[in-house]
Amino acid sequence: MRTLIKNIKELVQVETGQPKLRAMGKEMAQMETIKDAYLLVEDGKIKDFGPMRGWSGCADREVDATGRLVFPTFCDSHTHIVYANSREHEFVDKIRGLSYEEIAKRGGGILNSAKATAAASEDELYDMAWRRLEDVLRMGTGAIEIKSGYGLSTESELKLLRVIRRLKEKSPMTIKSNFLGAHGIPMEYRGHQEDYVDLVINEMIPKVAAEGLADFIDVFCDQGFFTVADTERILEAGIRYGMRPKIHANEMAVSGGVQVGVKYGAISVDHLEQMGDAEIECLKGSDTMPTVLPGCAFFLNLPLSPARKMIDSGLPVAMASDYNPGTSPSGNMQLVLSMACIRYRLTPEEALNATTLNTAYAMGVSNEVGTIAVGKKANFLVTKPMPSYEYMPYAYGENKVERVFLNGVEV
Ligand code: NIG
Ligand code: FE
Repeated sequence: MRTLIKNIKELVQVETGQPKLRAMGKEMAQMETIKDAYLLVEDGKIKDFGPMRGWSGCADREVDATGRLVFPTFCDSHTHIVYANSREHEFVDKIRGLSYEEIAKRGGGILNSAKATAAASEDELYDMAWRRLEDVLRMGTGAIEIKSGYGLSTESELKLLRVIRRLKEKSPMTIKSNFLGAHGIPMEYRGHQEDYVDLVINEMIPKVAAEGLADFIDVFCDQGFFTVADTERILEAGIRYGMRPKIHANEMAVSGGVQVGVKYGAISVDHLEQMGDAEIECLKGSDTMPTVLPGCAFFLNLPLSPARKMIDSGLPVAMASDYNPGTSPSGNMQLVLSMACIRYRLTPEEALNATTLNTAYAMGVSNEVGTIAVGKKANFLVTKPMPSYEYMPYAYGENKVERVFLNGVEV
């Protein structure tokens, strides 16, 4: 089956040479496009593309994209979309002056979500997560990483990971699962959290691995949550069971999370609102993707991660949504793209690399998605009629996506 997308006003983020696995430093500003282009899909993969005047051949199906641009779909490498309840009451508490940490200390925050999530059935959680997945798909997300972490007991964590497994089976999206048992410290473990860490290591990780439920292992390594020592123990155990680390680091404080992530070969370290020069130095030469979560900093009014400085010092940067009920109740990657430009001063080209190729890297799939390259999955979006690719980050808050194709099929 061959599908031709023809008369594309501009085909964005193509790779004509050898595809890159990630873009770093100055490379982030490089982005190739082809004006008045075609894109040919065969058997779910990108077969060919080029200027319209160079097209000759036949296809089983044609899609006319006159006036519209085609982009690769977004990759969202950091989400927590399996949860039961929204938390708008805490949102109001924050407006009235409480901090995220103060809410967490009195049993709100992650523990609030864990309570509601424990009470929900696997089917209910699946239905809620499925709706969230459908919503972000409509807004152009084609690949997504999903964490557990609102279970915080062996039984509940397994329930969440089984929901993610069902999402993987049913959805045409590229999905990776991440075990985040070390997301919060349950009330009954306060004051002796090492016992909870023991539970994660001795009971949860072996059971998660036995069912093959997690691609990654994550720890919330931050002030008031898990220490560097806790994190090291958990990562060592996860690695023994074949899970690659991804870390929540440096959201509240310079926590040591970046260093411990790099030391254990994390595929990404995420948040990074609190970064010193030592953290930037430590990332240089590593395989770890620094990942910024603009929605979380926006929602919590946190200081901004020094993304510009990281890129200027030669590092790659990825930007993901952090879609979750407590710190970023939106999975809209178009908005993340806009915030990358508006708040972090990335150029549109850098912001696109940050939300597609580099997030694909941060979930280990940049060899198959993240750009328009021959042989990659035919995962792309067709915009509404619009003037230029810069319009995509510029017109924030508006849905500019008209159609989404995954594996060459319209969804
Ligand atoms: O990535 N920082 C830790 N975890 C989530 C927030 C979870 C919550 O508040 O429910 C985050 O921001
Ligand atoms: Fe998160």
